[in-house]
Amino acid sequence: MKSKAVIKRIGILTGGGDCPGLNAVIRAVVKTAIFQYGLEVVGFLEGYLGMIRNMTRPLEASDASGILHQGGTILSTSNRDNPFRFPVTVRGKKIFKDVSDQAIRNLQKNKVDALIAVGGDGSLTIAYQLFQKGVPLVGIPKTIDNDLWGTDVTFGFNTALQTAMEAIDKLQTTAASHHRAMVVEVMGRYAGWIALEAGLASGGDVILIPEIPYDIDKVCEVVKERHRYGKRSTIVVVAEGAIPQKGEVVVKKLVEDSTDPVRLGGVGYKVGNEIEKRTGVETRVTVLGHIQRGGSPSVFDRILATRFGPRAVDLVMKKRFGRMVCLRGLNIEDIPLKNVQGDQRKVLPNGDLVKTARSVGVSFGD
Ligand code: F6P
Repeated sequence: MKSKAVIKRIGILTGGGDCPGLNAVIRAVVKTAIFQYGLEVVGFLEGYLGMIRNMTRPLEASDASGILHQGGTILSTSNRDNPFRFPVTVRGKKIFKDVSDQAIRNLQKNKVDALIAVGGDGSLTIAYQLFQKGVPLVGIPKTIDNDLWGTDVTFGFNTALQTAMEAIDKLQTTAASHHRAMVVEVMGRYAGWIALEAGLASGGDVILIPEIPYDIDKVCEVVKERHRYGKRSTIVVVAEGAIPQKGEVVVKKLVEDSTDPVRLGGVGYKVGNEIEKRTGVETRVTVLGHIQRGGSPSVFDRILATRFGPRAVDLVMKKRFGRMVCLRGLNIEDIPLKNVQGDQRKVLPNGDLVKTARSVGVSFGD
């Protein structure tokens, strides 16, 4: 697919898990494309599935109205449906096929001169592969996990933090009233950002993150110690990807046709059961789950998404393809999509945030 001399029509899709701010970024892209550049915009539905099956909807300025505050995505999304590894049934047997040429043909059928792909690392890996096949394309990062390499923050993260913080605040009251240990499992995949920042913001006593493997004996020691000193409740915030020093990450299930088939979950119960068994302190476990992906985006996420959108359209108009917009410090910048591949943005075990948490008495169970 060759880049046209004049860009007249762009496509946009949202891929991967939904997160607050997706509608804000769609709005920003559509408004900039139409008002600043007089472009037409077509939305591909359900992430890359829309490209594979040619499921589209036109996006007019009116479609971008009234959606800034809405969670989810008006284009729908999917964290499966990889055009380079798409499941098809041949003679009753499921096999995986490369249908990327078909997906690219559908871009052409829709007269799309350039594509804006909004996604996390799975969707942006696919975006890079499409770019390598000649698709003129720009990426926009999103995810509640904040684990995308190359941007200081992704939109979705701040809202997820707010949700997790409010939930932990609410659990504090039961913890204190019943003198219990309350274990809260939060999302984040293999990065501990949600656990660390929501835990810090809500006064968590123990925070377990993938980047600092925990020792359950040390965790239980903290609970006992607090009881000895009259602090009879303990809040333990556990990232779904937390790993014991001697053991493995807890996998909830495998989603075969997903770009990343592993779904984490269950470590909260593992930790909670051990705490109750070893300390005798009554313990309850709450798994926040997909609540963290829902709801209206925070101020920060609305603004970040609104800043990413126009930058992506500007890159398209300058034909600076194969790039991803990002936040660096206070500025919106862009980097090659290539640089984002294969690396994840993780919490630094000796970084400032972890040090701050330790200063105020947080235990990482290490
Ligand atoms: O990447 C976002 C995320 O919510 C992760 O935090 C979580 O591990 C995963 O997606 C859950 O995926 P699914 O919606 O397929 O269960």
